[in-house]
Amino acid sequence: MQPFVSRNISLVEHLARDIVDGLSEETNKKWIKPRYLYDQIGSRLYERICDQPEYYPFRTETGILKRFGHRIFKFMNGDVTVVELGSGNSAKTRILLSTLLEIQKRVFYLPIDVSQEILLKTTHDLNREFTRLDTFGIAADYSEGIREACNISARNVTMPEKKFVLFLGSTIGNFEYQEAVEFLISLRESMQAGDFLLLGFDLQKDVKVLEDAYNDRLGFTAAFNLNLLSRINRELGGEFSLTNFRHLAFYNTEHHRIEMNLISKTTHEVYVNSLRRSFSFIVNERIHTENSYKFTLEAMRNIIERSGFRIAENFLDHDNLYCVSLMVADN
Ligand code: AVJ
Repeated sequence: MQPFVSRNISLVEHLARDIVDGLSEETNKKWIKPRYLYDQIGSRLYERICDQPEYYPFRTETGILKRFGHRIFKFMNGDVTVVELGSGNSAKTRILLSTLLEIQKRVFYLPIDVSQEILLKTTHDLNREFTRLDTFGIAADYSEGIREACNISARNVTMPEKKFVLFLGSTIGNFEYQEAVEFLISLRESMQAGDFLLLGFDLQKDVKVLEDAYNDRLGFTAAFNLNLLSRINRELGGEFSLTNFRHLAFYNTEHHRIEMNLISKTTHEVYVNSLRRSFSFIVNERIHTENSYKFTLEAMRNIIERSGFRIAENFLDHDNLYCVSLMVADN
């Protein structure tokens, strides 16, 4: 079996269309989808963010997985195939996979990610690192990736039918409330009753702690955000000058979310060669690049129960910063 497939990702046409849509909006309504933050450079910068002392979500989630790994797998009777949405470099997943390898003779792992380069490397590394682990990388967006994962497991009789789907890192926080429900509903539809979903999400907390996490002292979050403009320069022949923009991240208490923006420092126009057009910005105008929603356990319970899942158990750290929910697909 070839340990890698790639499906229609990083099409420059999609980027072109979305940039035209988002940057043609009027003043202060401009936006770019957060998925474009994760090209090769962006994914590397995100890894650096995860190492920063201010960015608690990564290490807190890692701690929860270390502490409760065995307990999570206690819920499963029989072998499972592990599918991961947005696996990145699979750093946290290594913990779960090594725990699972203590329980199962052989483990199949299907990571899905939009960053092809990182996924190729991870697939290769994992297959060398663990002898009883079969990793099969799927470079695709989530819906396409899940479909592919189902095909692969249907074709391979040695793969356990029961699925253990991972959606970690609080990526669900990038969705609007209704989008989150719709996303989970469609995920549920691609799963069988009794399959498991492990969902990581960030909890509401002190505003200072939240804002510091998205304004790290060494500026990796700022670099990650500004890389969007470099990406437009690289892939679409944009003429953005990075010094004309600054990173702004703050907590919106009304909507319970961190908002990331790029703020134009001056009134100016930027030409993008392959789009053969320019976009204008006025001083202090913003481009909205990401929302990162923060939840209460109640709010997430609502989302989950609307989506055809049932919570088996919530796992939290000692400071109640972060939650990993184990859920079962309902009948
Ligand atoms: C990968 C979406 C979970 O929202 O915390 C980190 C992305 N943005 N710092 C998050 C991110 C700025 C991250 N997610």
